[in-house]
Amino acid sequence: MPRALITGAGRGIGKETARAFLGAGWTVLALDKDFSSFDLSDARLERVDYDLTQVAGIAALVAGLGEIDTLVNNAGTLYCEPYDAIPEAHKREILAVNLEAPVALMQALAPQMRKRKAGRIVNVGSVAAFTGHPDLWYGATKAALLNTTKSCAGWLGRDGIRRR
Ligand SMILES: NC(=O)c1ccc[n+]([C@@H]2O[C@H](COP(=O)([O-])OP(=O)(O)OC[C@H]3O[C@@H](n4cnc5c(N)ncnc54)[C@H](O)[C@@H]3O)[C@@H](O)[C@H]2O)c1
Repeated sequence: MPRALITGAGRGIGKETARAFLGAGWTVLALDKDFSSFDLSDARLERVDYDLTQVAGIAALVAGLGEIDTLVNNAGTLYCEPYDAIPEAHKREILAVNLEAPVALMQALAPQMRKRKAGRIVNVGSVAAFTGHPDLWYGATKAALLNTTKSCAGWLGRDGIRRR
């Protein structure tokens, strides 16, 4: 049974992605820090309660999750505050959730995927990567995530790990 790790699966696009994977017969590890809107229930579904701002703990988290065939880096956050009045804490949170955590998850999962010479990594982007965005750091992190995806595809693609 293939297994997918989907971040930000507590609601929205992540939850619907989890539903689609379950429908396709996958086992789903649904990661979020907030499951208050989560109404999926399935024997093949496992909740992973984790706050992705805790980037330093991601390697240890992944080590305990077992084999993952597909990673969907879907979690994202934004505040849309004026570009010249963004609280430092919000900037740090956006950088961590939208960029540092997805990269840490790719780095943590790459060794097991390389070993099996198979794997899929989907990084959920945004048109903001190209256009800019009312939330300065949201747009910047989505652009950086796109670039990181291309870099990782170059490093990992030769081992059978693909970006879609
Ligand atoms: N909705 C849109 O129109 C749209 C457009 C372009 C891109 N996107 C991207 O799609 C993805 C999902 O968007 P959405 O609209 O479903 O978002 P959403 O806000 O509805 O859901 C995001 C999920 O991520 C989780 N999350 C946020 N911070 C977290 C953290 N620190 N740790 C763990 N989980 C955390 C939230 O709890 C939430 O469940 C995001 O990456 C977003 O940037 C969305």
